[in-house]
Amino acid sequence: MRVSRKFIEDTVMSYHASFSADKNWCNISALAPVNTSYAKRKYQKIYALRFIPAYYFEYCALASLLRSRLNALKIKDVKIASFGCGLCPDYYALEENLLGIDFEYVGFDRVHWSTQDLMPPKGDNFSFRVELADGLDEGEIDDFDVFIFPKSIRDIADSDDEALVDLARSLSGSPKKRIFFMNSFVCTKGQRSLDTPYFTVIHDALLEAGFSCQDDHKETFYRKKPGSDKSYAALISINNNFVYPGQGFVVCPERGSMDDCETCNVVKRPIFSNEFMDYQLLEYVKE
Ligand SMILES: C[S@@+](CC[C@H](N)C(=O)[O-])C[C@H]1O[C@@H](n2cnc3c(N)ncnc32)[C@H](O)[C@@H]1O
Repeated sequence: MRVSRKFIEDTVMSYHASFSADKNWCNISALAPVNTSYAKRKYQKIYALRFIPAYYFEYCALASLLRSRLNALKIKDVKIASFGCGLCPDYYALEENLLGIDFEYVGFDRVHWSTQDLMPPKGDNFSFRVELADGLDEGEIDDFDVFIFPKSIRDIADSDDEALVDLARSLSGSPKKRIFFMNSFVCTKGQRSLDTPYFTVIHDALLEAGFSCQDDHKETFYRKKPGSDKSYAALISINNNFVYPGQGFVVCPERGSMDDCETCNVVKRPIFSNEFMDYQLLEYVKE
């Protein structure tokens, strides 16, 4: 698994510079990572500073697993769809880890994520579409070999009562003989994710359509420190390229001056450990 220290540093410093120039941080201090917050430019910056380095790290672990699987199957190029891609940290993880494999990436999100311009540059193999994942019809997903749910399946499910059923219908109509899912689930600190049942809707539809899967779709992973019995570990102890630049912390000059400061989400610390990791790689085949 490869992690780019430069990607983390460039991303954090870019968002930090931009956020520091913003005024009225208190306006977004109560916002949480839910669908109603993501379109707000100022919130996107705080989201990037808090979550993107750790989520990128997790997607590096997943991308590295995908690379091993593709290499074993001698697959040399793939087309990848990311549903609920946000600022697309998964794209950079794929760039870093899919060595020797050509890939084309299309990110889909219901929100424009206008601070994409603060992210490091991307290659010609990248495109972004502001579209509902559940609004895509079968024909639009025909070409894809790999589908990613990067911490997004719960938000997609929350966006509409029928969203997962609609998406499952499109995915199960894939004409491909082999497709992969890279799932990364949101979890509460210190607990395994409660979100895996959302994917079961898609799993069941794929089986119904004649696909089979040798991987256990109910099993998820998080990275332990190599050689340690402890479940949880600092990300830097798993890969020493996980370095969060010290100048990237948000320091609020008003901190402590108001009652609301106690619950403020702006000054929350970024994620530094594997306590929010929960991922799986699933491969489905059809005769
Ligand atoms: C927790 S964020 C994850 C963002 C990004 N993948 C990451 O790793 O930081 C969930 C994302 O799912 C998106 N989303 C929610 N419902 C969606 C839908 N129906 N179709 C596409 N994207 C959706 C949200 O706009 C948001 O960007």
